[in-house]
Amino acid sequence: MRRYTLNWLMVALPVAFALLISLKPCCGKPTGKGCSETVDVAIVGGGIGGAYSAYNLRNKSLKIGVYENSDRLGGRYYTEHLANVPDQNIELGGMRFIKTAHTRLYKLIKDLNLKTEVLLNADSDSYESRVFRRNVSMTSSEYKTGQVPFNLTQEEKDNQADLLRYVFSKLTNDSLKNLTEERLFQLTVPDGRKLYQLSVVEALNLAASSEAKCYLLLQNHFNSAEIAATDMVYNYFGSHGQVYTGSDVLTVSEGMSSVVERAFEQFLNANSKHSLKKNRRLVSIRERKGKYRYKLTFKETVTADGRTQDLHHWRSNNIVCAKRVILAIPMFALSKINWAPLRSRHFTDLLLNTFKVHASKVFMTYKSPWWLEDTKYPTRTLQASGLGSALGANKVTPPLKDYLYDRLALAFGIPRCSIPEPLSAIAGFWIKYPYGGGWVLTRPGYTFDDIISGFRRPSDRHDVFVVGSDYAARDVTGWGEGALMTAESVLEEFFQNPLGHQQ
Ligand SMILES: *[C@@H]1O[C@H](CO)[C@@H](O)[C@H](O)[C@H]1NC(C)=O
Ligand SMILES: *[C@@H]1O[C@H](CO)[C@@H](O)[C@H](O)[C@H]1NC(C)=O
Ligand SMILES: *[C@@H]1O[C@H](CO)[C@@H](O)[C@H](O)[C@H]1NC(C)=O
Ligand SMILES: *[C@@H]1O[C@H](CO)[C@@H](O)[C@H](O)[C@H]1NC(C)=O
Ligand SMILES: *[C@@H]1O[C@H](CO)[C@@H](O)[C@H](O)[C@H]1NC(C)=O
Repeated sequence: MRRYTLNWLMVALPVAFALLISLKPCCGKPTGKGCSETVDVAIVGGGIGGAYSAYNLRNKSLKIGVYENSDRLGGRYYTEHLANVPDQNIELGGMRFIKTAHTRLYKLIKDLNLKTEVLLNADSDSYESRVFRRNVSMTSSEYKTGQVPFNLTQEEKDNQADLLRYVFSKLTNDSLKNLTEERLFQLTVPDGRKLYQLSVVEALNLAASSEAKCYLLLQNHFNSAEIAATDMVYNYFGSHGQVYTGSDVLTVSEGMSSVVERAFEQFLNANSKHSLKKNRRLVSIRERKGKYRYKLTFKETVTADGRTQDLHHWRSNNIVCAKRVILAIPMFALSKINWAPLRSRHFTDLLLNTFKVHASKVFMTYKSPWWLEDTKYPTRTLQASGLGSALGANKVTPPLKDYLYDRLALAFGIPRCSIPEPLSAIAGFWIKYPYGGGWVLTRPGYTFDDIISGFRRPSDRHDVFVVGSDYAARDVTGWGEGALMTAESVLEEFFQNPLGHQQ
């Protein structure tokens, strides 16, 4: 019997944001002066940013140590399998990429001899999402051009098909066609302020009716009203955006985690001095005398049922002494490290002005695809806003299932009791340490360059670098490509350009 998976049911948690940054130094006293290990480069983080850094430095006659907090490699690439559908990759995190836009990732996948397959065919409309807004179920095209449950003004109705562009064009007196990054940060609003100094909601308040504001915010339900207006404008109208439209969306046949696993495998094979240790959480960085200038204190952790915790034992501290350090960790984990440069005014401002998006995913499998057969609105993908849930490592709790079933019944126009029980279920939550959220967006007041250069090297005096998709900005924040882009920029500038690109 074939089993079907209802996936891509994205659940945006209603929690707008949480102040996730603790300014207090964390736990952990360094145990004496000695080093339990010395390395040329310490790479902290076993996700795609750490894997790409390790992979590209693997043959450079350096002794490299990699340290991962949990017992799993992959970070936000997290492929799972359910017993009843063993052939189906369940991507709890990043699940896809676009060949023409994510060129570094595509090259890496090819170099690692992994296979790719089409996840969404650009020419097929069978995948058109339905949207469920204000209790009304519509196709995406109906949402764009049909009757919608929003009281738009006549002018807004006349421009409904391209309302976001219309509103921002009017506000900035710019066509927003072929928008380059340079022009983006020059855009001004009538009172003379630069658009990047305004949040999305501030900008919409100036240029749209309150109903149009709701309509547009719900259309972008994964973004936040509090992020910089330029982030949203660039995502839709940036000159790069052309490559996204009309492209197939691909995935890795072996699962997205395999990119990370295979890159680390080749890293370890390249030099017997390299090492990779799991269940090590970085607590602090201290400067020391000598050529191994950085003393990194790690706490040993233990992972059970997908949850990773510190091993509470005084012997659980490990000291790694390193000449250089690459922190390939999410921003939330970075904010918890005890190291003076991360407490500077400038760095603290940057950390506080980011926004961690509380996205999660729920997968449920069924005997047959009821959402295509027995519903008023058969569809493969559904976007619904305002779904909320309790949290818990990978478990779909009964209250969460009940809540989702209520919403699914409304969205598909069927009685709740006609939705069959799932055969199996799994959820991916990204709110907890070390992630803090699915991805990171930026509040108003910063250019993309402020973000990228601000995070890359927290202090010019130190050979400690930061890479990862949380620090990528532009259109690749939240994508694996963003992690590769930031890693590449660090490697090219501070590690003799191992990728061999022209500078
Ligand atoms: C949507 O429908 C449900 C159930 O019929 C109802 O409880 C809820 O108030 C409705 N919400 C809106 C915004 O109309
Ligand atoms: C829609 O908005 C207009 C003003 O733009 C208002 O006059 C009208 O009463 C509103 N209709 C509804 C159904 O709220
Ligand atoms: C809008 O831009 C045009 C040129 O593109 C310019 O002629 C016009 O004065 C501008 N309007 C305002 C209000 O700035
Ligand atoms: C935008 O770029 C395309 C191709 O790069 C070009 O054909 C088009 O004329 C440009 N449009 C504007 C408004 O500059
Ligand atoms: C790295 O070294 C391995 C052998 O250790 C070799 O097979 C491979 O071609 C090298 N790769 C690069 C990019 O130098």
